[in-house]
Amino acid sequence: MRSYHVTTLNEFIIKRQADFVYAKGELSRLLYSIGVAAKIVNKKVNKAGLVDILGEAGNVNIQGEDQKKLDVFADEQFIGALESCGEVCGIATEENNEIVTFDHDLSEGAKYIVCMDPLDGSSNIDVNVSVGTIFSIYRRVTPRGRNPELQDFLQKGSKQIAAGYVIYGSSTMMVYSTGKGVNGFTLDPSIGEFCLSHPDIKTPDFGTIYSINEGNYFDFPDGVKKFIKFCQVKDPTNSRPYTSRYIGSLVSDFHRNLLKGGIYLYPQTAKAPEGKLRLLYECNPIAFLAEQAGGKASNGKTRVLEIQPDSLHQRIPFYTGSKNLVEKVEELL
Ligand code: AHG
Ligand code: MN
Ligand code: MN
Repeated sequence: MRSYHVTTLNEFIIKRQADFVYAKGELSRLLYSIGVAAKIVNKKVNKAGLVDILGEAGNVNIQGEDQKKLDVFADEQFIGALESCGEVCGIATEENNEIVTFDHDLSEGAKYIVCMDPLDGSSNIDVNVSVGTIFSIYRRVTPRGRNPELQDFLQKGSKQIAAGYVIYGSSTMMVYSTGKGVNGFTLDPSIGEFCLSHPDIKTPDFGTIYSINEGNYFDFPDGVKKFIKFCQVKDPTNSRPYTSRYIGSLVSDFHRNLLKGGIYLYPQTAKAPEGKLRLLYECNPIAFLAEQAGGKASNGKTRVLEIQPDSLHQRIPFYTGSKNLVEKVEELL
């Protein structure tokens, strides 16, 4: 391959299809459609600061519809894209209490289901901070040719076929894995393509960044309080004190730590006794990526990917990132 050739997301997806012996292109089409919807959401997110100027926010538009919140817009875009790609029979998202099933002819034989946080960190949009989309793909367990059921969605994270996120940041990226490493693609807005920019991402085994909302300190379990102190104690032979960084946008915090080495923590608190983050569409996909990049993800006791989900919007305490840090917090807990 000539060195000036860029690999686009779509070329890469098709190349990688050969890794799966019986692959017939269904997963490739599914990933492709997520990429397309991500570009549409990206355009909207980029314009978020303009809505006031353009007189749209909170207003009623020409069709008489209320201006939609970006979470709802993103939810509709991804559901629409996945429904029309024909490879998905149902989807669970943060914005829908129940599973959404696709029961038209196109999706009749579809074997995949998707769990998704269409817009993560959305409270940050008003202040121009990066937000994201998180997705997780499973093969259905009930027979094909009829509507998927709840049990198709309540699978352990270790059963994920693929997972990834899109980060709408200073540049927009899609990072995903099909279980054979993690690859990152940066959107080149001039050609409208995601281009391979971060092949085979590996997170450092030894991380030095910790990311946690320390405002909740007094509610944290003792082990987490000890871990924070451990990070702050001076020990130059061990690179301590470590660096604290917290955006409050899971995708952005995770993305930084993935590349630089660190840990993201969201323990249980008084306000969120089970933890805040949702197992199906926040923790499992992020945990899958962390492990694929050589890191770890835990609820403090067990590997996140081994947890048997019992409901769609279940929350868990979540600790993910570099091995040294996740192992340390587990030890202290
Ligand atoms: P969402 O916008 O999808 O509801 O998720 C927000 C999440 C996550 O992105 C972030 O890391 C966390 O909430 C921040 O919580 P705190 O504000 O409690 O720190
Ligand atoms: Mn979220
Ligand atoms: Mn969300």
